[in-house]
Amino acid sequence: MTNFGEAERTMVPFKALAEAYEAFTQTRLADAARILEELVDQSPYDRNAIRLLHAAYSGLEDGIRLQSLDDKISNHMPWYSDVEFRIATRLLQMGQVEAARERFDRALNMPLSMGPTRMLPFGEVSEARILHDLGYINYMRAEGELSSGPYDECAGQLAEIACQFTEGVKTVRLSAQQLTNIAPIYRRCVHLEDVAVPDEVINRPALNDALARFRAAPDCEKVVWFDGLLTDNAIDELRRYLLKSSIWHNDGQKGLGYLGAYETNGLRHPIMDKLVAEIEHCFYGALGSRKVSQLWCYKNVVGSVGVGVHADFSNVNLNIWLTPTQFNLDHESGGLLVYHAKAPEGWAFEKYNGDHDAIRDIVNGAERSIVTYRENRAMIFDSSLFHASNGVKFENTYQAGRINLTFLFGQR
Ligand SMILES: [Fe+2]
Repeated sequence: MTNFGEAERTMVPFKALAEAYEAFTQTRLADAARILEELVDQSPYDRNAIRLLHAAYSGLEDGIRLQSLDDKISNHMPWYSDVEFRIATRLLQMGQVEAARERFDRALNMPLSMGPTRMLPFGEVSEARILHDLGYINYMRAEGELSSGPYDECAGQLAEIACQFTEGVKTVRLSAQQLTNIAPIYRRCVHLEDVAVPDEVINRPALNDALARFRAAPDCEKVVWFDGLLTDNAIDELRRYLLKSSIWHNDGQKGLGYLGAYETNGLRHPIMDKLVAEIEHCFYGALGSRKVSQLWCYKNVVGSVGVGVHADFSNVNLNIWLTPTQFNLDHESGGLLVYHAKAPEGWAFEKYNGDHDAIRDIVNGAERSIVTYRENRAMIFDSSLFHASNGVKFENTYQAGRINLTFLFGQR
């Protein structure tokens, strides 16, 4: 016998969700939020409603309701890692470093596949992942930071796994025993370094001058660079944070030679918040309301190919290199090539970010700017301009990995 009562109960949330979605797409965010709040009250496990409500609150810039939504979801679904990462990020931004670390660590270890994006599947590892974690343990042990015992055993196992990466092997699937042996480090947030936030983090006159040059440049030549964006204190503290904090979790990038650190899993330390605020202030003064829409760090661990020619999904890119210049073994490489050629308006993300043949047709014969590598050199360029790194040959030690910090402004 058909249970109509059950069917009706299922249909009502769908109808409400559809209404909320319609309100959301018409940017009636308050209406969408009102419908969704009721829905989430009735069915606190409905991930579609939760995601949409989160997006509505974000659009309304309602930080207080965002926070209480996350706390509520965390009570109902303590295994929902998206929420745990957000709560951890908030704790970090408030300077509660140890509480944030515990929360990140828990979120990274959740068995369901709702972890950070651009991560390899659980149990599948790249050479970069293994060499990085091995280098991290050795570096931290030398700094007197991690206890002996479990981490020494981990290091031994990681060194053995590293030998499995013979020519042509891209990833390795770990055995249950290997996973057990590296459990203290694999997908863990074992340490967040508590660094100071200097009073001055950027050189404002230098940034303002570069932004004025950027604004004045012709349409297809909007690329400028300059040295010393970060103050000496800021770059020292930031580098210490990036070297000592286990935040390099995004290991599924193209080529697999890089690891990424994203703001949702540990990059949003108060020093980064201050950087964002100061940089946004200058961008606003020079270019109108330009908000940082995304930020990330990438670190090269293995290979020398670098990132291929692509354009990005933002309006403007600001890139800063953070690794000391002395680690760059080949001064002809390590930098950035920016072509004076833009991704055509109608191209979708997949095309301007990865269709190598189509991109080659556009950049062939185009003028290009070559920005050579230097620590604390900043580049500002139109994100639609095709760009690529021109190879990476840095010293092969943990501290020497080439790190770039990227801020993306607006949407393409
Ligand atoms: Fe890019």
